[in-house]
Amino acid sequence: MKAQESPPAKETLLRKIAERSATIGIVGLGYVGLPLALRYAEAGYPVIGFDIDAAKVEALNAGRSYIEHIRGDSIAAARAAKFEASTELARAGNCDALILCVPTPLDRRREPDLRYVLGTVDSLLPHLRRGQVVSLESTTYPGTTEEELKPRIESRGLKVGVDVFLCFSPEREDPGNPRFSTRTIPKVCGGTTPACLEAGLALYGAVIDRVVPVSSTRIAEMTKLLENVHRAVNIGLVNEMKIICDRMGIDVHEVIRAAATKPFGFVPYWPGPGFGGHCIPVDPFYLAWKARKFGVQARFVELAGEINRAMPEWVVGKLAAALQKCGKTVSGSRCLVLGLAYKKNIGDTRESPAVELMELLAAQGATVDYSDPHVPVFPKMRDHRFDLKSVILTAVGMASYDALLLVTDHDAFDYAWIRRHARLIVDTRGVYLDGAPNVVKA
Ligand SMILES: NC(=O)c1ccc[n+]([C@@H]2O[C@H](COP(=O)([O-])OP(=O)(O)OC[C@H]3O[C@@H](n4cnc5c(N)ncnc54)[C@H](O)[C@@H]3O)[C@@H](O)[C@H]2O)c1
Repeated sequence: MKAQESPPAKETLLRKIAERSATIGIVGLGYVGLPLALRYAEAGYPVIGFDIDAAKVEALNAGRSYIEHIRGDSIAAARAAKFEASTELARAGNCDALILCVPTPLDRRREPDLRYVLGTVDSLLPHLRRGQVVSLESTTYPGTTEEELKPRIESRGLKVGVDVFLCFSPEREDPGNPRFSTRTIPKVCGGTTPACLEAGLALYGAVIDRVVPVSSTRIAEMTKLLENVHRAVNIGLVNEMKIICDRMGIDVHEVIRAAATKPFGFVPYWPGPGFGGHCIPVDPFYLAWKARKFGVQARFVELAGEINRAMPEWVVGKLAAALQKCGKTVSGSRCLVLGLAYKKNIGDTRESPAVELMELLAAQGATVDYSDPHVPVFPKMRDHRFDLKSVILTAVGMASYDALLLVTDHDAFDYAWIRRHARLIVDTRGVYLDGAPNVVKA
């Protein structure tokens, strides 16, 4: 058959997706990529998961999980189906779909660091071919797909919308939330052209209950940023309310619980020791950076960042004041941080305020330990280092600390028992609403 008579790329792709014979390539097998790869495998597709981390690839191929809330038996089931992991990006040429789930951090100036996304695209370029759909899921500023991915793909002589189909579809994973799964979380998708959108809807519609089409990749990119800015700003608001309430001798948690009884027009957000995780402390600044290019200042984003980033210092101030009342100082005290993960019931410590709190306390001369049943060993981190293991809580052990700093309110902690044995608890999560002589709310 001559080249011009070959079947149109889109029809072939759509047919393969409908028949479940399309090979799905997921690039980046972290918190976002791995559940998605498992979902495609569960739906019967051949799946190749790519990662540059050979240890992850080895674990997956041996049927083991490295993410606490993803069970090893779901990996083993996927392996028994048609899932395999690989470090060889050259195999991307065998894939009909390439879904990119690589990190999008900030650099030292708190500006977008697209090196993983662009590095991945550049490595994929030699293996791209006609009839593939490429979808970016990494959270990023509006315009990334059009301005960065499209020209790179077209530099290979492939026309986007004719030969290759390009989409942006943000991830909405909520690690550890048992009420939603990859299949049941609605997924927004935008395409570079109508044909790209059609390919994206077919790709995701095959495994996700509800796919929400939007008119462009920029809308899809901005949708994700709005979702995360919304959270960052509201967390900033309640953290500010906490500081105001504290000064007035009012318990902010009781206020929020009362306000949340309003059946319309109020959504409760909860204050804490700062903000953490890969998304909320990071993504809003992708928007702020891009807005500056348009001569606009994202003032809510900047203010929320300022308030949320200042919370660990405020908490340490509350701890210092509480120790002082007992005739002690932070310097020379022994402190135990309860909860190292950035949110309850998971083991993810990325950007966790607990780590910053540990550093602030250590810098002021405290001896710091931590206890977190989800994080048995202090993980390797780019900017932080503690050679510590999680302390197993005992009545005698707890009583030996000058203060327990409750940072992450895991369900695994026995709060009544902890209160009975701790000398002093500084509660940043509103766990001890009814208070106690040895509890300070912070
Ligand atoms: N974690 C979440 O809950 C969440 C939710 C929504 C959106 N996101 C977004 O999704 C993206 C991925 O986040 P994550 O939490 O899965 O990150 P992660 O760090 O858990 O996983 C990313 C993976 O990509 C791999 N990787 C990096 N460069 C690569 C390359 N060139 N080729 C192949 N693999 C490569 C890493 O080794 C790692 O395993 C980010 O943009 C993030 O903002 C995350």
